[in-house]
Amino acid sequence: MSDRVELEKYKQQIANLYSARSASYDRGDWHPRIARRLVEYARLSPGQQVLDIATGTGMVALLAAQIVKMEGHVIGIDISTGMLERARQKLKASGLKNIEFQLADGEALSFRENHFDTIFCSSAMIWMSDLHRALRLWQRCLKPGGLLCFHAFADTAFVGGVVSQKILEKYDVSLSLNKPTGTTQKCYDLMDAAGFENIEIKSEPDGSYISLEQAKGMWIGDSSFPTPGQYPNPLRELSLSQRVEAKIEFDAVLDSLQTERGIWDDRTIFYTLGRKAFPKDGLASGRIISNGY
Ligand SMILES: C[S@@+](CC[C@H](N)C(=O)[O-])C[C@H]1O[C@@H](n2cnc3c(N)ncnc32)[C@H](O)[C@@H]1O
Repeated sequence: MSDRVELEKYKQQIANLYSARSASYDRGDWHPRIARRLVEYARLSPGQQVLDIATGTGMVALLAAQIVKMEGHVIGIDISTGMLERARQKLKASGLKNIEFQLADGEALSFRENHFDTIFCSSAMIWMSDLHRALRLWQRCLKPGGLLCFHAFADTAFVGGVVSQKILEKYDVSLSLNKPTGTTQKCYDLMDAAGFENIEIKSEPDGSYISLEQAKGMWIGDSSFPTPGQYPNPLRELSLSQRVEAKIEFDAVLDSLQTERGIWDDRTIFYTLGRKAFPKDGLASGRIISNGY
């Protein structure tokens, strides 16, 4: 997905989706739990400069700001104005003075090179249009020895997505979803290819039983929603009758997965950490990274 205009349309769709979800996004303990864990793994210390990419309602950024204290600083960026508005409301209520939230694309940063001690990306790797490029860009924004911490799901996560993928393959539709970060090896390889060192992947089992109705509601056959990492939506190739047929097959597979306790919805989580290498000549520049690098 390299065409800039197409990319803008894709990102606008994502921004609209999350702005519409922003009022209810903080309900439940699932996202806060992941954000807390990611911040714990980073072992931040007072005085650090932190960037939270795709900050959403600011969960990671707000936690980080409490640890880095007034000597440190946190910037949270997102493409959704609705999510940022919610983040700013929470910031006001928190009384914290060492964070700012900015409207910016995580794949087109313009921060100084070698600037941040820690960069986070929680629950948003799936939306990046080019993960390899994004990781190289984020690495350049880190100081030598700086830490990148991202959270992503296994390719076994979300029963609705996994079954949708299988059904849609029969219709020659290939959905990317969690595949790019779907195994610990894939997470490792992504970090390694971008030049990170001391890479660690913490795999944590997660999931719960959900009702058949909930599982059936997870069908990914609606082409009006953005498809993570893919634009245009590959589902637009399907005719209406193919979509109806595919949904019937999807429901039938879920019926067969039903147990007395409901349907198991795997949510295996990978927390990936890696450090930017120190330059071989011992020098680190402070150049501004140009947009879209
Ligand atoms: C599932 S939410 C995660 C929010 C937050 N990180 C958390 O852990 O709760 C995904 C967020 O990614 C944002 N997003 C998606 N693509 C982005 C991009 N290229 N740059 C910045 N934000 C992006 C969306 O707007 C949304 O707020």
